[in-house]
Order: sequence, then C-alpha cells, then structure tokens
Amino acid sequence: MKGAGAAVMDQSAAIEPPTQCAVHVGRSQHLRPHHLRLLPDAELDRARRYQLAADRDRVMLGAVLLRLAAARAVGVEPGEVAVDRTCDRCGDQHGRPRLPGSGLHASVSHSGDLVAVALTAAGPVGVDVEAVRPIDFVAVADRICTPSERAEVRGLTDFYTVWTRKEAVLKATGEGLARPMTDLHVSAPSAVPVLLRLGSDAPPACQLTDIPVGDGYRACVAVLSAGPVTVATLDAGEMLRTASTSPES
Ligand SMILES: CC(C)(COP(=O)(O)OP(=O)(O)OC[C@H]1O[C@@H](n2cnc3c(N)ncnc32)[C@H](O)[C@@H]1OP(=O)(O)O)[C@@H](O)C(=O)NCCC(=O)NCCS
Repeated sequence: MKGAGAAVMDQSAAIEPPTQCAVHVGRSQHLRPHHLRLLPDAELDRARRYQLAADRDRVMLGAVLLRLAAARAVGVEPGEVAVDRTCDRCGDQHGRPRLPGSGLHASVSHSGDLVAVALTAAGPVGVDVEAVRPIDFVAVADRICTPSERAEVRGLTDFYTVWTRKEAVLKATGEGLARPMTDLHVSAPSAVPVLLRLGSDAPPACQLTDIPVGDGYRACVAVLSAGPVTVATLDAGEMLRTASTSPES
C-alpha cells in the first residue's frame, strides 16, 4: 500500500517494551527494486532528489527499513505504517521521522554502506552512524569537541566516538546541527558514554549507548529517558530478504 492509504497505527498496538531500544542495521547492497514498492511516491521523490546513486540508495533503504521495523514492532503490514517527517522549524517534510499513533520514537542514520534505524517506546531517540574515514581530524576537532573532550581524543576512532555520541544526542533532541556540537559535552571516548552537559542547562535524562555496527564504523544511540534502556543491535539482512513484497524479477 502506498502512503496515501497508510493507516495511523493504534497506539495500544505498540509491542516494543518501554525499556528497550532496537537498532536495525542494514547495508546498501540489501536494497532490492521490490523494496521500493513499500514507499509512497513522496518518499521516492525525496530520495530521487539526491544526485549520487549511493546517497539515493541509503535514503531509500532507511525509509524501507523504518517501515519494515515499525510494522514488525507494532504488528501491522509495512504499507500501513504512516511516517511523518514534518520539520519542527519550517514545516516541510524533511525533519526527523515520526510514527504517529504507534507509541514509538524513531531515528534513522546512514553512512558508508550502513543504514541504522532505531525504534523505542522509551522516549525520543537519536542514532548516528559514521564510517571512520581517514580525515585530518586534528583540523576539524575544534568544531566538534569542547577543549576538555579534545584533550581525551587520542586518534581517529576516538574522534568518531565523540562525534557519534554528540550527534546521537542532537538527533534525539531534534535540534540536529542547528545546535553547535561544541555546545554539548560527553564523556571521554574510553569511558562509559554519558551526556554531561547540554548548553548551559542541566542535561536532560539521556541514556547513551555505543553500538557495534561493524569494522570501520562508529555508532551511538541516545534515548531521552530517565530509566535504563536496553539496546539491541539487530542485523536487518533477514528482515530485508524476507520483506513481504512480490519481487519484480
Ligand atoms: C539531522 C542531522 C544532524 C543528520 O545529519 P547527517 O549526519 O548528515 O545524517 P544522518 O544519516 O546521521 O541522519 C540523517 C537522518 O536524520 C533524520 N533527521 C533529519 N532531521 C532531523 C532532526 N532535526 N532531528 C533528528 N533527526 C533528523 C532523517 O531521518 C535523516 O535521514 P532520512 O532523511 O534518510 O530519513 C542533520 O541533517 C541536521 O542537523 N538536520 C537538521 C537541520 C535543520 O534543522 N535544518 C532546518 C531546515 S528548515
């Protein structure tokens, strides 16, 4: 079913326990033409605006995976999943994804070959995945890290650990990069991930978890919740392989 007919899910249907967060991780090469039948025209048009095929595939896979994972969590067909992307700032359909009526919070991230979709009923969620690229992190660290975070960054992997922790928080709050990354402070890369400061205010209750998504990547998920949240990182390959659409060929 395409988006126009997508039903708003009954909130009582959410089966994701409120203390858990599932992070589904897929790879661009898992995307098949028949998966695109799960997407409404507006989603396809949005993805087609990206000039590079790799970017298009990542965005499409994120949208597909979001519907498949939400459908499985709530117990409906993927075509019945309504996704609202209304931007909090301008009202256009390019903001954080919401799943109205599901009782679930969602976040999507893509980098390199990977796409991650986080779902939880525990609170607003942000996931960030970054491919560890051999950049001159020394040159850009001051734009990402506070001086005391910078002092703890001993190499490229540390740098990406700090980056993904901070971006996960900013995606959970919905601010994204509208708030400078130096405006928040997280624990040292070698320490348990903790949000220590957000702007000048006391930080919101936030459960930060570094997640294992594969060699050459760093990833973190942030859930704005006072209670502990158990994070399960799940390989989405099987879900994509068995997606209930009829293959075109
Ligand atoms: C959200 C943001 C940090 C992601 O940056 P990124 O590292 O390039 O990309 P990621 O792959 O990790 O995340 C992209 C996903 O973030 C989600 N997203 C977009 N805006 C978001 C927001 N404000 N909060 C949380 N998530 C957001 C989307 O799901 C997007 O993927 P999709 O479009 O394929 O579904 C960045 O795009 C941003 O700051 N956007 C908001 C900027 C803003 O408010 N602009 C105002 C425009 S009027």
